[in-house]
Amino acid sequence: MTTQAHCVRTLTLILLAVMPLPGPPPSLRQAADHAGVLVGTAIRPTQLSEVAYATALGREFNMVEPEDAMKWWVVRRNQEAFDFSQGDEVVRFAEAHGMKVRGHCLVWARDNPEWLAQGHFTPAQLSRLLHDHIAHVMKHYAGQVFAWDVVNEALDENGDVRDSIWYNRPGIGLAGKRTRYIERAFRWAHKADPQALLFYNEAEGEELSKKSDAIYDMVRSFKHRGVPIDGVGLQLHISELDLDVAGLEANITRLAALGIQVHITELDVSVPLNPEEELVNKDDLTHQAQIYRSVVRACLQTSGCTAIQTWGFTDKYSWIGSSSHGSRGMALPLDRAYGPKPAYDAILEELTASRNHKR
Ligand code: XIL
Repeated sequence: MTTQAHCVRTLTLILLAVMPLPGPPPSLRQAADHAGVLVGTAIRPTQLSEVAYATALGREFNMVEPEDAMKWWVVRRNQEAFDFSQGDEVVRFAEAHGMKVRGHCLVWARDNPEWLAQGHFTPAQLSRLLHDHIAHVMKHYAGQVFAWDVVNEALDENGDVRDSIWYNRPGIGLAGKRTRYIERAFRWAHKADPQALLFYNEAEGEELSKKSDAIYDMVRSFKHRGVPIDGVGLQLHISELDLDVAGLEANITRLAALGIQVHITELDVSVPLNPEEELVNKDDLTHQAQIYRSVVRACLQTSGCTAIQTWGFTDKYSWIGSSSHGSRGMALPLDRAYGPKPAYDAILEELTASRNHKR
């Protein structure tokens, strides 16, 4: 080899070593791992046997939450027994793929079995039922579920406590005492699994409003009085392609300032569809992506916001599109064929950019 050829070869080798070859773009999961944040999705165990579903799930997310599999109507189909088979499937998948599991949910007015909702139990009986449910379910999943939505959707749009079987219909014995029944559930939950992070999860209280003020006041009072609460879940089902970004940011910031974590728990952004299930406005997927971007950015700019989760991940399977939502849909970051939509790219860009900020 001539001296000149030798120099060229050496230079080429040096260049190859310092310039990374263009590889495939990172997944949401890789970007989130680098950013130090959890990126999750709600899942249904029945779909795990579909290879494309399971592959995309394991590649894109480092956290899962059962969409229904840990709710009362699944776990307590009858009064006598607990059925953990569906929830256990979710946990098995997560463990096999190194993902965390969020539990959802222990106390809710909805998605309860008929025998409970129509059972005409006394407050004393309901109190025992709820205590035993929380204790049994949380102990079963101790060490596997790292965070629980202990209480779901307990407040109405005015910030008042909603009527429910657990509060006042007839309630667990604390009817009329506002958030005392919520407090009791958190105390029971902490006893059942002292390691689990305990969340209050709520819908339509993400921006600044009477409802989000009431959530804030409740959590502040809980923290002040030593009620064991670790976080607030902001659901963020968005159906009007409209988000008050400044309000969301301000709400996340004030909640985190209480010393709790904020999780975005049920993010989806639906768009209008025609009867053929096609877009009504061709620009809507771009608007949708902008909203996803704003939510991810709002979370990542506060270190107390530690998880971003979508309610499903492919438009093939979403609770939006069930009859109650009429003509809306396409709410998730991957399309029906598991291809990335503009919303996916927006989430990935924000996660990747946040590597450069200290969280
Ligand atoms: C929904 C599920 O997605 C559906 O499969 C089920 O039929 C009804 O519940 N807020 C919540 C979730 O906290 O539990 C709800 O999930 C969506 C609204």
